[in-house]
Amino acid sequence: MAIGRIIGGQSLNEAEESFNVSLRPKFLDECIGQRNLKEKLGIAIAAARQRSEPLEHVLFYGPPGLGKTTLAHVVANEMGARIRCSSGPALAKAGDVMGLLSNVDTGDVLFIDEIHRLSTLVEEFIYPAMEDFKVDFTVDSGLHAKTINFPLKRFTLIGATTRAGLLSAPLRSRFGMLYHLDFYGSEELTEILARSAELLELQCEEGTLELIADRSRGTPRVANRLLRRVRDYAQVKGSGILSAGIVASSLKMEQIDALGLDELDRAFLRALINIYDGGPAGIEAIAATLGEERDTLEDVVEPYLLQIGFVRRTKRGREVTEQACEHLGVKPLKEKSKARQPELFEQSEQ
Ligand SMILES: Nc1ncnc2c1ncn2[C@@H]1O[C@H](COP(=O)(O)OP(=O)(O)O)[C@@H](O)[C@H]1O
Ligand SMILES: [Mg+2]
Repeated sequence: MAIGRIIGGQSLNEAEESFNVSLRPKFLDECIGQRNLKEKLGIAIAAARQRSEPLEHVLFYGPPGLGKTTLAHVVANEMGARIRCSSGPALAKAGDVMGLLSNVDTGDVLFIDEIHRLSTLVEEFIYPAMEDFKVDFTVDSGLHAKTINFPLKRFTLIGATTRAGLLSAPLRSRFGMLYHLDFYGSEELTEILARSAELLELQCEEGTLELIADRSRGTPRVANRLLRRVRDYAQVKGSGILSAGIVASSLKMEQIDALGLDELDRAFLRALINIYDGGPAGIEAIAATLGEERDTLEDVVEPYLLQIGFVRRTKRGREVTEQACEHLGVKPLKEKSKARQPELFEQSEQ
């Protein structure tokens, strides 16, 4: 069900990826929102540049589609550095990392996406590279095995992850800077959409971009994706100009509701309500009910539902909130238990 999901933060395919690249801001000034992060990062970059030193290692973490990859490229551009990209799953063996590291020049940026998926073996291989800019590489095996100490140039490692919690403590501690990306506000998303519309030379009636922004789940990638769908719709069904009517009908066709929730979000909430009496329910159980991957639910469905207060995470599992029930038009659950234990509910609602 997640494949082709219009609201997910994950990239859908290559066509979309190249579309994303064309809309990607290249410098810090062009990035919209994340003000706090931008300020701190800007200072670190300016200081490193003044000292003519490579930047410290940086970790970006947060839900998909918020700008981690974009920021990695922005850092490289701002530092005037070359960037080499890889990802946790692609670096399966120490040899894979060795191939990458041996080509690294002073000041280069090495970007590792999904860094939480590195194997323990590769992770341990990377520690001395991050800390002392050297690696111990074992060649041959058995009797002939020997370890070669290989010095490296000073580089900047940029890691990105949707799950900082899955990163081992030793790896996390080797990053000099850790930045969390937050969901974007409606105004920021409108600004992002205005920038994209301009780049795409799209004509929009006033107020239409706000309508798209409000349905983008706080996520720039989703905003740009919806813009693309609406643009297609306007071209085929209208005059090519974005109007409120065109936005409303095209998003209705995509089954996206007023809050930007799609079928999978609603299925998640409905499963919690109808099958688990509102919860608490474990994520594995919900995933099995929906026939979805647990990772998809944890990465792209839950964060936004938590953010807007539709789901609560407790030690015993996930619970649906009254707001979610209201939004779906179902009667709030647990009226009885609530009446029995008012103080318990008040506490957990804070
Ligand atoms: N701060 C920003 N300002 C404008 N557009 C952004 C910003 N952050 C992300 N985007 C847009 O969102 C898209 C997805 O961002 P990306 O960096 O691929 O997210 P992530 O790596 O976190 O999944 C980019 O192609 C870019 O067009
Ligand atoms: Mg990315």
